[in-house]
Amino acid sequence: MALLPILCFPDPKLHKVAKPVAAVDGRIQTLISDMFETMYEAKGIGLAATQVDVHERLIVMDVSEGRDTPLVLINPKLLWTSPETHLNEEGCLSVPGIYDGVQRHDRIKVEALDAQGQVRLIETDGLLAVCIQHEMDHLMGKVFVEYLSPLKRNRIKTKMLKAQREARA
Ligand code: NI
Repeated sequence: MALLPILCFPDPKLHKVAKPVAAVDGRIQTLISDMFETMYEAKGIGLAATQVDVHERLIVMDVSEGRDTPLVLINPKLLWTSPETHLNEEGCLSVPGIYDGVQRHDRIKVEALDAQGQVRLIETDGLLAVCIQHEMDHLMGKVFVEYLSPLKRNRIKTKMLKAQREARA
């Protein structure tokens, strides 16, 4: 197990589009363990491989109160989204300290492989549905701040760059 460095917005590597995972093998199992360790340590509810600079379609999540319900999605495909949407306050481990509203589908159906390489069908709503949509965006190279107005996004960019400069100083 190892903690992985998390890319921070506006790192251009966050905009790479992930490729499908070719095989759920030992390398992927190790990556899954490392991503869970990194996500729990950072107190996040979801982490996409893109955020740790691995550009393959893999997501780890845990939206439970007890932090004891890990969920792995490999090569996720959205099969259906509800026409109803609602505004959720979102944050992201790649944009620390920033929270803002994003419109998401209320209910979704997703097909993905689990950590054992078995096909899983997930139909869900609430926080898990929001989290899956947020993480699947990461795999497409999209960070949630891109839904915000250019003005807000630029303010966030300036704030992040300043924080990153100060952290290095
Ligand atoms: Ni995120």
